[in-house]
Amino acid sequence: MAKDVIIACDFDSAEKTFAFLDLFGNRKPFVKIGMELFYSVGPNVVREIKKRGHKVFLDLKLHDIPNTVKKSMTVLSGLGADIVNLHAAGTTAMMKAALEGLTRKDGTRPLLIAVTQLTSTDEESLKNELLIDKPMAEVVERYALNALSAGLDGVVCSPLEAEKVHRACGKNFLTVTPGVRFAYGDKGDQKRVTTPEDAKKAGSDYIVVGRPITAAEDPVAAYERCVREFMGNVKEK
Ligand code: C5P
Repeated sequence: MAKDVIIACDFDSAEKTFAFLDLFGNRKPFVKIGMELFYSVGPNVVREIKKRGHKVFLDLKLHDIPNTVKKSMTVLSGLGADIVNLHAAGTTAMMKAALEGLTRKDGTRPLLIAVTQLTSTDEESLKNELLIDKPMAEVVERYALNALSAGLDGVVCSPLEAEKVHRACGKNFLTVTPGVRFAYGDKGDQKRVTTPEDAKKAGSDYIVVGRPITAAEDPVAAYERCVREFMGNVKEK
């Protein structure tokens, strides 16, 4: 899969989402549908956005007992998403079950990636709240190796960790990286952030960008800036 910029469509209605996507005309950016949109509009929004010609990363971050995750993945597989995800913290047994549930009768399936540690989690909360004493980089690498051994296609991680993950898991193991900002000063609730250009240097395969595009005065220009900085040229129309 080629490198790409994925726009996080964190809206609370189909109207807002389609009005936003209409701004892009014939361009069909790769979009991420997260919990907010999925829970407010329902599964049909995935089919609708696919029908409009976009690739879809369905970011529902499943985390439950293996059997529940397996059955839920079977349902998600039917929606036509290109990438789906879960929390690596659910263990290898859960990840393997997810993969089984996701695989359709004809053997095809969406890509499955695992969230390592949320980019809003820093080392202090890791240690003091989750009682994980290891450094963040080590935790992320171990979770990525767990995902690899379960047969997954990649992980969601901070761009700051992409290089380490590729070194541990191979260059074909996907790194999908949120926590991207145009300038280091403007982080919002994200803690481990980087710019599109630095994400490119770190070897991220996909960057996921939400508010820097959706809340921009000119979202199309912001998207184009991301594409230019991350991919080095403006994506074909
Ligand atoms: O607006 P912003 O660019 O911070 O959006 C980032 C998106 O990526 C959000 O939709 C968030 O849920 C998602 N995400 C994340 N960190 C992860 C996994 C997903 O920020 N580890």
